[in-house]
Amino acid sequence: MYAILITVHSVFCDRKRNPAVMMCLVLLVQNLQILDILKIIPYGVKGLLCFPILGGGSLSVRLISYLKMKVTIVSRSGREVIKGGLELNDSATVGDLQEAIHHRTKRYYPSRQRLTLPLQPGSKEKPVTLNSRRNVRDFCDGYSDNLTVVFKDLGPQVSYRTLFFWEYLGPLLIYPIFYYFPVYQYFGYKVDRVIHPVQTYALYYWCFHYFKRIMETFFVHRFSHATSPLSNVFRNCAYYWTFGSYIAYYMNHPHYTPVSNLQMMIGFGFGLVCQVANLYCHLLLRNLRSPEGNGGYQIPHGFLFNIVTCANYTTEIYQWLGFNIATQTIAGYVFLVVAAFIMTNWALAKHHRLKKLFDGKQGRPKYPRRWVILPPFL
Ligand SMILES: NC(=O)c1ccc[n+]([C@@H]2O[C@H](COP(=O)([O-])OP(=O)(O)OC[C@H]3O[C@@H](n4cnc5c(N)ncnc54)[C@H](OP(=O)(O)O)[C@@H]3O)[C@@H](O)[C@H]2O)c1
Repeated sequence: MYAILITVHSVFCDRKRNPAVMMCLVLLVQNLQILDILKIIPYGVKGLLCFPILGGGSLSVRLISYLKMKVTIVSRSGREVIKGGLELNDSATVGDLQEAIHHRTKRYYPSRQRLTLPLQPGSKEKPVTLNSRRNVRDFCDGYSDNLTVVFKDLGPQVSYRTLFFWEYLGPLLIYPIFYYFPVYQYFGYKVDRVIHPVQTYALYYWCFHYFKRIMETFFVHRFSHATSPLSNVFRNCAYYWTFGSYIAYYMNHPHYTPVSNLQMMIGFGFGLVCQVANLYCHLLLRNLRSPEGNGGYQIPHGFLFNIVTCANYTTEIYQWLGFNIATQTIAGYVFLVVAAFIMTNWALAKHHRLKKLFDGKQGRPKYPRRWVILPPFL
């Protein structure tokens, strides 16, 4: 009401309108709110109601922006997260709502919040997640000015770049320690190490791979989600750092036996081609999204994507195969099998998502027939 009075006052001063007319307007809007009429008429019409009295569209628009919406925030168990709910402007976005929640709770910064629409009791459907760029009003029923949203705390978050940086930094630093430093004497090996060329090339290959991944993380990938739970840093680091140490230990071991020169060259040669192809796949994926885009998914196309959905995983798996052909360690093959298993599961999910998104219905393109990850098997 105070905001309306200020607007009216400014208009009165600007346009020399009759104070009595302005007071009528104030009373009208106030009474409309008291009678709750504004809740059952479209909000575009709310402004028009004032139009004849004011004789000016710009002022009606200014009045609309003072109309409020009530948002009730509940936990999944139905407990009110913010006592009394929040009042937002009609034009507020979900991002504004998240900021308002943060303002009231301090602890729950926007990326920590997941807001969904409540489900009917007993419903097995997936709840609708509120996209931060959408208007809150889009989720209101009809012309209602009340909305209830379900709040979930996603826990402490880190940016995807932070997560990837730490998980790749481990193998990048750990591997050279086994190559350059006399660590094997602490494992009871007193013999002098003879370093074979394949061990040196493996070091370069390995470091190039993880350096490339860090560079891609910062300069190539366009992630759909800004953040990931902090707990993933520990989980992913445990995976990469442990495998990095395991492979580095056996690759640089004093008793390591090299393969033939020819096998080594074929392995590294093939692996390097796959690493370059992997980089190219990542560049193609990057071009599917504009820098200021909404993080949506497109049909990947071009190069290997014309035959396989997750060509970046295909080339990743094959580049580790090349490394293993050249170096031949059980540790390396174990990593290859585990990584291929993980990426196959992800590829199946990504393939399924793209087929669902591009189903050829209602004007949507149809996802073309493609292999998932490892042609000609899957
Ligand atoms: N050795 C291993 O164990 C292992 C395991 C996993 C990955 N990797 C390597 O790390 C790389 C990155 O992994 P990742 O799982 O982040 O790869 P990814 O999800 O397949 O793709 C990389 C980037 O492209 C985006 N993207 C993917 N499909 C898209 C589409 N259809 N439309 C628009 N954008 C799309 C992704 O966005 P989103 O943010 O939406 O995902 C992501 O930012 C892999 O390609 C692989 O080389 C290695």
